[in-house]
Amino acid sequence: MFNLIFVIILSYLVGSIPNSIIISKLVKGIDIREFGSGNAGGTNVFRVLGWKWGILTILLDALKGAIAVIVVARLYLDNFPFNNITPFDDFTLVQIICGVAAVIGHVFTVFAGFKGGKGIATGLGVLIMIVTVDMALALAVFFIVVGLSRYISLGSLAAAIAVPLIMIIRENIFGVDIQGYHTILPFVIVLALFVIYTHRSNILRIINGNERKISFSKK
Ligand code: G3P
Repeated sequence: MFNLIFVIILSYLVGSIPNSIIISKLVKGIDIREFGSGNAGGTNVFRVLGWKWGILTILLDALKGAIAVIVVARLYLDNFPFNNITPFDDFTLVQIICGVAAVIGHVFTVFAGFKGGKGIATGLGVLIMIVTVDMALALAVFFIVVGLSRYISLGSLAAAIAVPLIMIIRENIFGVDIQGYHTILPFVIVLALFVIYTHRSNILRIINGNERKISFSKK
């Protein structure tokens, strides 16, 4: 149990690294949380500093999730050889728990007054490592919805909801045997609900018709 708490805290700390705040400070000497949507995330960096910095932020935020799942979760196995866990399902459980901890770290970052981003890029980094096909399909949903609506937030919400739905459909209708399905699905559902929660201001703005649409200005 102690070992699990150790990797959870480490994952939370990795997720807490506030890339958007660091990048906006270094590039323009500003706190990204005081500009645009006020969100400490790649979309807002994209909006305020331009697409190159936005993409860099998104990649670094995704990397945090991937590191939690691939590197930090592994410490549970490597440094604590007496953990009595069986090869696939139990390690997947540790991985997804570490991934969720990283997403929570990103949103409630200990390094920036617990005011971080909305968990999309970090969640992407987590899930692309665990349920690669489902996440890749959800990414397609993201691009379609953003392409049609020009709302990044709507695309993010659609993708977050799409991951568990795609998993359920592939497993139960198409008969695909998704490894660790029953272990992973509850966490993916929790992540989707969490992302709906972090996007509550965006949802209100979409309903009221004043959500910001994405544009590709040269910055
Ligand atoms: O990933 C965050 C995105 O979905 C919304 O960001 O800045 O438009 O609130 P923002």
